[in-house]
Amino acid sequence: MTIIGLCHRKMQLKENYDLIENGYAVIPFPKYIKDIIKSNILEKVAIKTNSNLNINSSIEEITESVCSMDENAFRISFSKPERNLSGSAVDSILKYVRNISKSLGGKISDINYLSPREIKSNECFNERTYDLPWRCVRPNKIDVGAAHADYQFWDINDNTDLDPLCPIDYDQRWKVWVPLFGCNNSNSIQFISGSHKEEVPFIIRENDGNIKPDIDHDWLDSNESKFICPFDSFDENCVIFHDRLIHRGPKNLCNHIRISNEFTILLKI
Ligand SMILES: [Fe+2]
Repeated sequence: MTIIGLCHRKMQLKENYDLIENGYAVIPFPKYIKDIIKSNILEKVAIKTNSNLNINSSIEEITESVCSMDENAFRISFSKPERNLSGSAVDSILKYVRNISKSLGGKISDINYLSPREIKSNECFNERTYDLPWRCVRPNKIDVGAAHADYQFWDINDNTDLDPLCPIDYDQRWKVWVPLFGCNNSNSIQFISGSHKEEVPFIIRENDGNIKPDIDHDWLDSNESKFICPFDSFDENCVIFHDRLIHRGPKNLCNHIRISNEFTILLKI
């Protein structure tokens, strides 16, 4: 795996072998931005759990606070509208994204806003609220979604009230996944390398009013052994991946939670 330093720009992401051939690349993510994101998340988790969590709290303390909530309270407090970054975390990620355009071979890069339906779901949101969710996966719970490629959701939601608003006209989408708390090789994002180049069969399934992609189960069964977690080291890295790359979050079998953050880069070539 090639880990490249964006600050040196020795090799641009658009020329990165892993990103082109495998559909993903592990790249550095500044520690100071991670710290800002972590603080923002812990402030929110402290309020939701009525605890004193702060940046010095251990993973055990965070786990205990979150896991002490009953299932219903967790479902409400940790629904997607409740898990959107705010304040300086947004500003620092935006700066990072806007600086990455040249490395990806584009002229402008930005992040999408929330969709009209999401904006209506919380009085704190407006048409300029960026879509910057974090995810908290508890031990041994189904807090993760099924395998998918992000373009499937974009296509399904196109021209509906779940179609995200976008600040720029763009040609490509890239997803970034940032490990934050309790992430390791057994509980973090997994990819099927090279699947962005395949026509992966899927159907659109409706369940309780939610419309989601459902990848052909025979295809998934025959590719099960190919799912891999891309990280050798989590601390100061993130992973960027292709809009068509098949990925999933595995069930968390550890005895602590894991928290990550993700966002989509819109790129104008
Ligand atoms: Fe995804």
